[in-house]
Amino acid sequence: MSTPENSSEIFIDNYGRRMNYLRLAVTDRCNLRCRYCMPEEGVPHVPKENLLSWEENLRLSGIMINHGVTKIRITGGEPFVRKGLTGFLEQLKARYPDLNIGITTNAVLLERHLERLKSAGITSLNISLDSLSPEGFYTITRRDNFHDTWDAIQQAINMGFDIKINMVIQAGLNDHEILDFADLTETLPINVRYIEPMPFSGDLYEDHQSFSFKEIKKELAKKYVLIPDGTAKSGVANQFKIEGHPGKIGIINAYSRTFCATCSRMRVSALGQMRTCLYGENVLDLRELFRCGSPDSVIADAIQKVLNQRFKDGFEAENHRKEKQFESMSAIGG
Ligand code: GTP
Ligand code: 5AD
Ligand code: SF4
Repeated sequence: MSTPENSSEIFIDNYGRRMNYLRLAVTDRCNLRCRYCMPEEGVPHVPKENLLSWEENLRLSGIMINHGVTKIRITGGEPFVRKGLTGFLEQLKARYPDLNIGITTNAVLLERHLERLKSAGITSLNISLDSLSPEGFYTITRRDNFHDTWDAIQQAINMGFDIKINMVIQAGLNDHEILDFADLTETLPINVRYIEPMPFSGDLYEDHQSFSFKEIKKELAKKYVLIPDGTAKSGVANQFKIEGHPGKIGIINAYSRTFCATCSRMRVSALGQMRTCLYGENVLDLRELFRCGSPDSVIADAIQKVLNQRFKDGFEAENHRKEKQFESMSAIGG
């Protein structure tokens, strides 16, 4: 495939998938220690100068947008732990008003940023929450911040943000709360999404405990009839409605990987490492390219080159890994 030289050709992979969604991790740090994401002691931190600077992130975003990216999701670690995030988002939105910007956050630090986010034109937030009780929250996150997250969610709903709640289901820890989360949709206009756990805890793969979308559906069926919501623009989630509820339900087959055929996602870590599949390995060092003075056209060519070598799906990507153990999700950005 010929690659764009100084042009605005859109990024397409070797399977013809149009790559229009960038997941940009802005830090590997997090203020929680969720069991499915990190070991208790956390993960080794990298010096600040090794992170892509905000200027580099702006430049990278520009290159991506120039080549067909229409949506950038800010992830981490926990994005709001890094100073200057709100300013970066304001600049990004001012420069690219049509860009769809999402943020995935645990919301512990969110409340104080809501006004500025709203003024900047950011309308949607994906919030990780795995328990509706302070005790359950503590057991899963090893931190005592339930009320910070819950208050921020209430405030964000009141301010009119479009809210998705991400709940990672872990057998024996929070599967008994599946219906409690669904009950929220009876009164709140939110999208509750249940996520199959993936083996990205930074611990041994053998410890991975799956909880499949079939089991999630079975639990929901004890109380609710799920109506497939064909109208919803779903991404990785299968969307459902419940009769009479303003909120919605989504199920994300993250471990079963049933959505790869339409995968449009690129990932760049806080260190500027790009990967073309969540289950794959880093395939391009963008930080190195930036810091050795490469022009945008060279960077775009390098990106297109790795997109020409994507795997068909997450299983194939996983099988081709040299290192069998997965990193912590905080290093990948989800
Ligand atoms: P929107 O569709 O923009 O709302 O966001 P999203 O669902 O793409 O992003 P979010 O960060 O909220 O991710 C929700 C869950 O889906 C997380 O557990 C992600 O790790 C998982 N996920 C997102 N993209 C992929 C993917 O490409 N493959 C797999 N297997 N899981 C993914
Ligand atoms: N399995 C599934 N989802 C995970 N997330 C983090 N670690 C895992 C995992 N091991 C989720 C977070 C967040 C999103 C970015 O990914 O809860 O909502
Ligand atoms: Fe895309 Fe890989 Fe996720 Fe499949 S597992 S949807 S190919 S990132």
